[in-house]
Amino acid sequence: MKDKFYITTPIYYVNAAPHLGHAYTTIVADVLSRFHILQGDETFFLTGTDEHGDKIVAAAEKEGTPTKEYVDKISGLFRALWPKLKIGNNDFIRTTDPRHQQVVQAILNTVKERGDIYFSEYSGLYCFGCERFYTERELVDGKCPDHQVEPTLISEANYFFRMSRYQDWLIDHIRTHPDFIRPERYRNEVLAFLRDPLEDLCISRPKSRLSWGIPLPFDDQYVTYVWFDALINYVSALGYPKGARFETFWPVAQHLVAKDILKPHGIYWPCMLKAAGIEPYRHLNVHGYWNVNQGKMSKSLGNVVKPLELLDIYGLDAFRYFLIREMVFGLDSEFSEEALVARINADLVNDLGNLVSRSLTMVHNYFQGEMPAPGPSEVLDDELRESALQLVESYKASMEEVGLHRAMVLTWEFIGKINKYIVATEPWVLAKERSSRLATVLFHLVESIRIISILIWPVMPETAEKIQDLLGLGKKGRDVSLDDAGEWGIGKAVRPIAKAPHLFQRIEGQKEAGSRRSEVGAQRSADSAGEMQTSKSEQDMVSFKEFRRMDIRIGTVKGAEAIPGSKKLLRLTVDIGEQRTVVAGLAGVYAEQDLINKQVVVLANLEPVNFMGVESRGMLLAAEDGSGVHILMPDTESVPGSKVR
Ligand code: MSP
Repeated sequence: MKDKFYITTPIYYVNAAPHLGHAYTTIVADVLSRFHILQGDETFFLTGTDEHGDKIVAAAEKEGTPTKEYVDKISGLFRALWPKLKIGNNDFIRTTDPRHQQVVQAILNTVKERGDIYFSEYSGLYCFGCERFYTERELVDGKCPDHQVEPTLISEANYFFRMSRYQDWLIDHIRTHPDFIRPERYRNEVLAFLRDPLEDLCISRPKSRLSWGIPLPFDDQYVTYVWFDALINYVSALGYPKGARFETFWPVAQHLVAKDILKPHGIYWPCMLKAAGIEPYRHLNVHGYWNVNQGKMSKSLGNVVKPLELLDIYGLDAFRYFLIREMVFGLDSEFSEEALVARINADLVNDLGNLVSRSLTMVHNYFQGEMPAPGPSEVLDDELRESALQLVESYKASMEEVGLHRAMVLTWEFIGKINKYIVATEPWVLAKERSSRLATVLFHLVESIRIISILIWPVMPETAEKIQDLLGLGKKGRDVSLDDAGEWGIGKAVRPIAKAPHLFQRIEGQKEAGSRRSEVGAQRSADSAGEMQTSKSEQDMVSFKEFRRMDIRIGTVKGAEAIPGSKKLLRLTVDIGEQRTVVAGLAGVYAEQDLINKQVVVLANLEPVNFMGVESRGMLLAAEDGSGVHILMPDTESVPGSKVR
């Protein structure tokens, strides 16, 4: 029987446009949902918007727009953003939906009938930003810790939810269900809070003060407190109390929130569920904040990173990967464009992108794109296969525990192992020797890449599917199963394997943060035109001192591969006393195999230059005359690394 999986994001306030923080939580939910789709589970993923309360009214007033029109507009911004981030939510709930309002009123009636709602005069310190009363003890220097403003003293008669009645039950539930709130630090935080007596919760607002809310079914002079209203979305969207969806998915419900709303989710909501006679949710998964310049990103602080701006520049998959890989789930992370660029260049261009492109290029060049039939495997092959199969298991375990960053770390460790396998097996040497082992090595490479394509799909769906297309697999994306990743050898059936284009483009110039945007664009267009970027030629005389600064060395070519998408460029691996990648415009001039073991002359201390996503660390010296290009060579064999003077 299929397992079930139900994941929710917070429903976001519509007092401001979506920003990176909202995008992060929603992407995490999407990654988890896609992971469960790959497992073959019946999956339901809910997001939506929270549209009642003081701050929404204030935001609409500030803009001079009628409240309903305003909430429709901002809710529409969230709804429109998600497809652009490839968010595959199954439903989008709004607290202004009639289907939601009915359920809120039904639950209010039930809780009242059970004797858990009472009417009382109350006077307390109220923070309009948080939309809740604060106790003196919770304030920091007399101010709300989140909004840094002094709360207002409000005296009014209101309805209260007898939350205190559920304190012992909740403590017991958290103790007996260790993964009810996770990671553990947040479980401990809730337990610490529950050491003090739990106060009852004020769940109404008089209409005279706030009319934008769901009317209490038992008193039309009051509307429902926004948190009591909002939390119920998690069951109203499932058609509570009767819907089949509710029966299927509620027993496996998992919520995803940041630590800012731990208290309503870790305390109010379980107590509300208990009072309404509904089973508690299964897990509350709590993550940290994305900070910008050391501070939490928020509309009021004006340091909001607009996700779409970055998407347009760096691409969706890179953006999704960065967010998942960079933030250790549960801890805060500092967001910077520099960190994003560093991850793109290191993890995506160098590790994953190069692996795919060099492997598929070899299959293409040596076997005309046919998947090679493997011969008997050797120790290195067996080790690689074992690592792949272990990876699938540890990846699954990490995902189940919402250790998404960990799942990516493990996957990239495996990519590192594959790259080492290439260095150790030297397929280009096998090709030269026309060894039958070449097929076995390439088969292992392709299988490893196939497995990676499955594991990265939850995070980078476009890239995963692109790789699966390149491999010519019959199935891709959500039609592939995680079980396929655990089966070595399925890839035998694939063909033909396309020559690999570059999956990611290296981002240059990240040091000059200010000018980055235009440089990235320029770099991209130069790359896509297949142009080689030449450095400014120096026409002046060179002093002896300047000449001495040049580190020119003899090298031996160890590998040569075409750079996909380029007519001119070859990527050479040259031994100059150390292994170097050097890009040279020799395609069509020399056959790749003819270059192997040739000795060449390399300018070794030229600053690295990027050619179509490949970083060249050195320049091969050649002469050019009317008849073509001729590489310089020593007249007798020299030790690689010998200095040219
Ligand atoms: N409407 C309530 C939630 C009700 S759920 C029943 C709310 N809305 S919110 O728009 O303020 O969203 C808060 C959530 O947005 C956080 O819990 C988190 O999921 C996400 N984030 C907002 N800013 C964030 C960061 N700076 N970093 C990480 N996530 C952040 O609270």
